[in-house]
Amino acid sequence: MCADGSGFSPGLKGVLAGETGLARVDGERGRLVYRGYPIGELVERGTYAQVAALLWTGAWSADAHLACAPLPSAVLAVLRQLPPEANAMDALRTGESAWGTVVGTTWPPTIEQARAVTSVAPSILAAFARQRDGLPPIDPDPDLGLAAGFLYQLRGERPDDAAARALDAYFIVGAEHGFNASTFAARVIISTHSDVASAVVGAIGALKGPWHGGAPSEVVDQLQQIPSVEDAEAWIRATLARGERLMGFGHRVYRAYDPRAAALRSVAEGQASVGDWLAKAVAIEDIALRVLEEWKPDYPIKTNVEYYAAAVLQGVGLPPNLFPATFALARHAGWTAHCLEQAEANVLIRPEVRYVGPEERHLPS
Ligand code: ACO
Repeated sequence: MCADGSGFSPGLKGVLAGETGLARVDGERGRLVYRGYPIGELVERGTYAQVAALLWTGAWSADAHLACAPLPSAVLAVLRQLPPEANAMDALRTGESAWGTVVGTTWPPTIEQARAVTSVAPSILAAFARQRDGLPPIDPDPDLGLAAGFLYQLRGERPDDAAARALDAYFIVGAEHGFNASTFAARVIISTHSDVASAVVGAIGALKGPWHGGAPSEVVDQLQQIPSVEDAEAWIRATLARGERLMGFGHRVYRAYDPRAAALRSVAEGQASVGDWLAKAVAIEDIALRVLEEWKPDYPIKTNVEYYAAAVLQGVGLPPNLFPATFALARHAGWTAHCLEQAEANVLIRPEVRYVGPEERHLPS
């Protein structure tokens, strides 16, 4: 409830807008669980296929497998029309929209639809990424999981186990996170009895913004702009003084360290290819946290998931311009699980808005 007693809270900050059994995001303690299981345990001992099945069904399925799906020719034809310089998030959104049109997903959302859209998304992104490099698409390998299958479709060779495992861990960490902006967008869309493809397309649009899923590539830019650790403090203070934000820091819910950042930092530490970059990132993180604490003593701004996502994604050799869209691939399990949950007890999501425009008036006669 806000100060004027109306319940209005800009940005819905602090507003309870629903109930979910999918993830508990405990911002004060820095804890995240999917259907009760801590994220660290899922990253260490699970696969993305198992986590997706858990989110969709509520049950842990030891033998869950999720492979990339082949693309309908009409989707490939749409992707071919896109300019090579197109933003990868735009291409993914367009490809999934085309896929939804071809497949004709309809209300109510089902687990089969959730699996289908989640497993076609990596094929769309890989086909676009190859096409912009003048290369033909590669058919998916049904034996590979989603993360490994995505890397295979990008490069035409099976990734080594370390890269496959690191990207799978990243997918687990990115799978679900409560009522974030993109998930909320998906729930709003499905609540109108629209279809799961439309919900995911809308969610991709919301995730594209740098205040949500667009941050990891900006983390890379940011660290590139800081010539050395010795220059970091001055650079950070100058950035804040200009009123700009530090990418990879801050979160609407977490006042404590984002547990996803901790999980991905451990993954990144196991990736030899990212060693020097990671050492610089860790040193700059310490300085940034100290300066941010001084900058906003009453509003804790800690490292968020995107900071170490940048390290893991670089470690598996993905170009920064694919980072946000790769995050979108991971979040498909959560978006679609929320569609299923919303549909189970659906109420149209349609809040009130306070009118602050001119009083009623009339056109000149
Ligand atoms: N750098 C500098 N200042 C910040 C940062 C930051 N990263 N984050 C918040 N602040 C400041 C704001 O400038 C604001 O200050 P003001 O009150 O003086 O205007 C104050 O903290 C509150 O900011 P809000 O946007 O109202 O707070 P919120 O906690 O909702 O912000 C957000 C969350 C949008 C993620 C923000 O922290 C941000 O922009 N971070 C940088 C981008 C980023 O890393 N995004 C990825 C988020 S993780 C994800 O979505 C997967």
